[in-house]
Amino acid sequence: MNSLTGKKIILGITGSIAAYKAAFFVRLLIKSGAEVKVLMTQSATTFIAPLTLATLSKNPVITGIADGDEWSNHVELGLWADALVIAPATANTMAKMAGGICDNILNAVYLSARCPVFFAPGMDLDMWVHPSTQENVQKLLGYGNILVEPESGELASGLVGKGRMAEPEHIITALSDFFRKEETTQSLAGKTVLITAGPTYEPIDPVRFIGNHSSGKMGKALAEKVVARGGKVHLVLGPSKLTVDHPDIRVTKVSTALEMLAAAEKYFAQADIAIMAAAVADFRPKNAATEKIKKKAGQEEMTIELVKNPDIAATLGQKKRKNQILVGFALETENPVANASRKLSKKGFDFIVLNSLKDEGAGFNHDTNRVTLVFEGNKTKEFQLKSKLDVADDILDAIEQIL
Ligand code: PMT
Repeated sequence: MNSLTGKKIILGITGSIAAYKAAFFVRLLIKSGAEVKVLMTQSATTFIAPLTLATLSKNPVITGIADGDEWSNHVELGLWADALVIAPATANTMAKMAGGICDNILNAVYLSARCPVFFAPGMDLDMWVHPSTQENVQKLLGYGNILVEPESGELASGLVGKGRMAEPEHIITALSDFFRKEETTQSLAGKTVLITAGPTYEPIDPVRFIGNHSSGKMGKALAEKVVARGGKVHLVLGPSKLTVDHPDIRVTKVSTALEMLAAAEKYFAQADIAIMAAAVADFRPKNAATEKIKKKAGQEEMTIELVKNPDIAATLGQKKRKNQILVGFALETENPVANASRKLSKKGFDFIVLNSLKDEGAGFNHDTNRVTLVFEGNKTKEFQLKSKLDVADDILDAIEQIL
């Protein structure tokens, strides 16, 4: 039995020449044991006949919100599916998905769907690289939708480049991998994971502080994925607007690096795994004023004396027991792999998650991130831009390989 057996798949087809591949795709899905319902936009019906897809899927094909006097219940369809796959996804449909526009049955089902959504873009190469398309892709990744990357080759226009919809076999692989992962969700049962997340605020006086742009989203995504795999989390969270509400995620809110260190040290002893996603201020004002600092008449400059904060990760690295796993993050702007490798050995990390502010959609505050895992001996594993939730899965997969 493969991981698609018994899965309910809605295939949404939009108006790209790649729609012709849909017949083969439906056949593969059915052969894999999936149940398939097909939705088509009006323009998709000009590329491939609904009758072909109805015959192959053994289900009526839905092309409109209403068919005669029969209403297609988009909410029911959205709830029925284990996955919604939009293939090919045109630039137009992706823009509608990103903007919440709901002028056809496919977009209505997309907005109603509670299941995972896969999208496999198919378009000409210049359309694919256009900033608006790329921005929409990032938005969709940020909503947690899963991109099946377009492939390179000859395009219908005669141009050669990236933009061809992924081959149906490759979309099947993406779906199978996803469901296989879901089936092994209890892989961290019995494990306790300490996660640091968010920024630290180092007070200058009661109204001002030294801080940074970390939102805590990366750490929260990790916490959610750990509990999805059956583990328990101690989340030590710096000042953040995020709310975390899960019985297996115990949140300790802190403000400064010293407070974060105290909480991290407290929970590290009980942890099997520690992941340091926080952006900790390296320095803090030596003396925080107890009253608001007032500027004096004619004052043009001000000096604040800073002292070094303890390195939380390195402190845990020194205390690390043989069977504990310690994972660090590195936010670099230059010589990324070399700098990350240096931190790896200095702080006693098993591996380090490198992200760069130079990558669009990566780092602070985005819902997406693009990371490279750096292991001992400069070994690296690079990943595409993904939602922080999917990045969290990649990190946990790497941890489980060590376990
Ligand atoms: O919170 P988000 O908005 O989602 O953004 C996520 C993120 C960009 C903050 C995250 O992906 C990230 O890169 N976190 C680490 C940022 C950082 O401070 O990197 P660094 O290279 O300065 O530190 C290296 C490692 O040492 C990190 O694991 C850090 O948590 C840890 N460290 C650093 C200094 C310190 N005093 N104590 C530490 O524990």
